[in-house]
Amino acid sequence: MEEIKKISTVKKYTDISELLETDMALLKQAKEAVHSSYAPYSKFHVGCAVLLENGKIILGSNQENIAYPSGLCAERVAIFYAGSQYPDVPIIAMAITVKADDYVVKEPITSCGACLQSMSEYEMKFKKPMRIILQGETGDVLVAEGLKTFMPFMFWVDELGK
Ligand code: THU
Repeated sequence: MEEIKKISTVKKYTDISELLETDMALLKQAKEAVHSSYAPYSKFHVGCAVLLENGKIILGSNQENIAYPSGLCAERVAIFYAGSQYPDVPIIAMAITVKADDYVVKEPITSCGACLQSMSEYEMKFKKPMRIILQGETGDVLVAEGLKTFMPFMFWVDELGK
């Protein structure tokens, strides 16, 4: 028996002025996207900004439904739009932020498993790791390089991808 360890590293910025300008700009766009969130049930508003290789920025926000599973997370709203409107343009980075109605979210929120899985598909499609920038409503910003940071043992079968 051997243990397999995969180590994930994220950069934490407590001083936001240290962020790269491009990361800061994308985060600002994600905060704009929060305003279009439709979250009357969870009252938890998520905003996402996707940066494409051609410089285009796509915004997405969570869209809920009274039949709860019919709603969709901000990340998938944004990347599926990007994938359908710009099928040949790689996704370079995504910024994700949140705002709750009843409390202040002071910690970055990591995307749910279904979103991570969906995001990872585009990394594989374009063979490029995405930069992920996360912040709560306030507080530290986390920056990660690639989805493997969050899913070190993610599902991948070479033969299916061919
Ligand atoms: N949500 C997202 O938009 N992204 C995630 O990665 C996790 C959760 C949304 C779904 C739902 O509308 C609300 O946040 C509460 O779960």
